Amino acid sequence: MTNENLWIQETADKIKKKMEIVAERSRHKIPYTTQNGEHDDWTEKNICWWTNGFWGGIMWQLYHATGNFLYKEIAIETEEKLDRNLMIHQGMDHDSGFKWLPTSGAHYRLDGDPKAYNRLLLAADNLAGRFNPAGGFLRAWNDQGNGEKSGWAIIDCMMNLPLLYWASELTKDCRYRQVAELHGNIAMKYFVREDGSIKHIVEFNPVTGEYLRSHGGQGYKRGSVWSRGQAWAIYGFALSYRHTGEKKYLECAKKAADYFITHIPKGKGIPVDFLQPEDCTWEDSTAAVIAACGMLEISSHIEGSREEYKRNALYLLKFIARNRCNFTLDTDNLVERCTAAYHDEKHEFSIIYGDYFFIEGIWKLTGQELFIW
Ligand code: GLY
Repeated sequence: MTNENLWIQETADKIKKKMEIVAERSRHKIPYTTQNGEHDDWTEKNICWWTNGFWGGIMWQLYHATGNFLYKEIAIETEEKLDRNLMIHQGMDHDSGFKWLPTSGAHYRLDGDPKAYNRLLLAADNLAGRFNPAGGFLRAWNDQGNGEKSGWAIIDCMMNLPLLYWASELTKDCRYRQVAELHGNIAMKYFVREDGSIKHIVEFNPVTGEYLRSHGGQGYKRGSVWSRGQAWAIYGFALSYRHTGEKKYLECAKKAADYFITHIPKGKGIPVDFLQPEDCTWEDSTAAVIAACGMLEISSHIEGSREEYKRNALYLLKFIARNRCNFTLDTDNLVERCTAAYHDEKHEFSIIYGDYFFIEGIWKLTGQELFIW
């Protein structure tokens, strides 16, 4: 076994050893972060929160890799809890892909479960209903009912498009795919700058569809480069290529990845924003692991520079495993120093999708991944 393969195997084993204990401890929760090393629970706090599918996703990935039925039971419990989203006013937004692909999507793919199928299609119908025909984009967030955000689209949505691609594959109804491609084309035109950097929020006139302005969103400021947004673009455009075969999406994913790669700081974690002030040390480890998954997705589709993207993905995953991971058994999280948004009060804590994409990335390397997107 090469040193590389040995490292991958050892890291996968450490994850499995820790998660067997964590799953038992947190089995009835839907965690977002940890407090003093203990998972919190969003089941009652906010069942509609956009990250509530990742705990189920972690459980399905572990079930797929180990066959331990405990993980499957927990994943199904989470999936069932998410049904409440459908009955809550504004319980749904564009993040339906994040909620239902790692839960119902995984369940349907593994078991062909009919309820999981229904949930997937309900979520896809709702997502497609957010399409703005004048501007050709999917509306991102809800607002207070005053229309303030009805023209807002965000780069994260590229990761929700696979729900629409899947819906077309399941139903043989091409409309979902058409909506996804129209949004993808608009995202390519308005979110991607000449140098490959990505805007977080783009605002359109919701009546005419005209481009109005961009917003800095969760990054440092307008015109800056939020690192997790950059990572969503890498993975999201690469996935649109996987589902459509349209080369333009792969080229776009590579352009976003090239920008990310040239801005990886030597020996340090990924900053929250690639253009944050020099004296700011805030990091976001989620950007590192999501970008790594995106680069591995790109490398699976190309011949020439395949090693370049795989090498950088490995660098990012190794950096996180060695410097930003907690493998001790008495804390519930794996990945540390994650940041939700530059202007939030709190920075550098554990976030559930950091753990999810770290595991997905390592599983891609071991070949044990359950493909979710
Ligand atoms: N999708 C929201 C975020 O990345 O924070």
